[in-house]
Amino acid sequence: MISKKPIDIPCTLQERKVLEKIALAAQGLGVPAYLIGGFVRDKLLERRTKDMDVVCVGDGIALAHAVAESLGEQVPVNFFKTYGTAQIKWNDLEIEFVGARKESYRQHSRNPEVMAGTLRDDQLRRDFTINALAISLNDDDYGTLLDPFNGLADLEQKIIRTPLEPAQTFSDDPLRMMRAIRFASQLQFNISEPAFTAIQENAERIKIISQERITDELNKIMLSAKPSVGLDLLYKGGLLKIIFPQMIDLVGVETQDGKGHKDNFYHTLQVIDNIARNTHDLWLRWAALLHDIGKPATKKFEPGHGWTFHGHDAVGGKMVPRIFARLKLPQHEKMRLVKKLVELHLRPIGLTKENITDSAIRRLLFDAGDDIDALMMLCEADITSKNKAKVKRYLENFELVRQRLKEVEESDRIRNWQPPVTGELIMETFGLSPCRQVGDLKNAIREAILDGEIANTYEAAYAFMLEKAKAFNLTPVK
Ligand code: CTP
Repeated sequence: MISKKPIDIPCTLQERKVLEKIALAAQGLGVPAYLIGGFVRDKLLERRTKDMDVVCVGDGIALAHAVAESLGEQVPVNFFKTYGTAQIKWNDLEIEFVGARKESYRQHSRNPEVMAGTLRDDQLRRDFTINALAISLNDDDYGTLLDPFNGLADLEQKIIRTPLEPAQTFSDDPLRMMRAIRFASQLQFNISEPAFTAIQENAERIKIISQERITDELNKIMLSAKPSVGLDLLYKGGLLKIIFPQMIDLVGVETQDGKGHKDNFYHTLQVIDNIARNTHDLWLRWAALLHDIGKPATKKFEPGHGWTFHGHDAVGGKMVPRIFARLKLPQHEKMRLVKKLVELHLRPIGLTKENITDSAIRRLLFDAGDDIDALMMLCEADITSKNKAKVKRYLENFELVRQRLKEVEESDRIRNWQPPVTGELIMETFGLSPCRQVGDLKNAIREAILDGEIANTYEAAYAFMLEKAKAFNLTPVK
């Protein structure tokens, strides 16, 4: 279907300037050119866009060079001859050029066999109708929307549909199964029934896709406003058990002696949605996703009492590095943050009881350091009771914990704190080289301060060290 009326998409001045340059360059080369893909989709949805995709019926690399030249001498063109694609970065705009293609993919590989095609051929081999919308940049119909597969109607009705038979589209590139779910989660669209059935039938094919690309999509799902939508679709589509089997172990409710436990999978999904309302931080969302990951391994039924998950915090924390490694997520700072939050996620609950000493508060401040606010946010997100009175009570309790944390931090400055006596000073005082005794003494000093046994001062710590050293048969060298 061709909409004859030029479409007015809201473009910035910079975008308009680039579009004019592309149109002129394409005219000069005598190749029809079109805007296509995410840029068109997002403009129509009034979402923020970043990359521009341009398809031309001809040589995309030649068009990129011509556009770069018209933009100025300094604009470099990155191009991939094998794929016939080229990219230009101009200011903060990224523009991709490609020649219209007909493609067919071999069964066990993502490497396509590419042949030149018409615009329609190219639109047909794109993933979804909403991503196949094209806008003409040509003189005779500049601004006209070219929509052969009713993508505009699908945008309006919020439907993810494939231009070809879905099994074909997904088999051509199985990452598109993840993309369908990611768009559903990100845009709050529904996946058409045939497309979802095709995902269920072809889920296994995701195995030929690189972990990096899968994780990229997973992270986009995690960053959507309601990540539970995408995660539940991954589960129901049969992809989750392949890409992230530990999550599947959380699914389900077991009952014994009339006692059940909550479904930890759906509880987890709710916790992510809760935290997503308060933060865009991907890693806090990952902490929410993994906070109960140790539950299946620690689950026990205790007769007369019910289900317990003792130690799931520590076990879960230990699982984090392996999960991050398998998913090719970062291995350092971010992984350590998620691990720490999983390990500590029960601690603030312990502090909601009565008669909590300052030393318990101090210990949590010391262990959580600068991540204390993130931890409190995770704990609050972990409240998923349907009982409103209970939720209110739990939140009030956490508010009291926050208050105590604030008071103790103000008086003791324990966040990011290092004990006033260092290992170096211990070694120097007793003429020791690095050894276990140094560590033991250092720990004893730290514990005494955290317990409130001695003041958090150099003098008190030094005196305590001298006293404690006697038990280790150590005497000062001077
Ligand atoms: N595309 C496709 N199949 C893929 C990836 C991309 O058909 N596996 C097509 C779609 O037409 C898509 C366009 O290439 O719109 C550009 O792809 P990309 O930049 O990856 O995605 P966008 O749709 O722009 O969305 P986002 O930027 O949110 O990833």
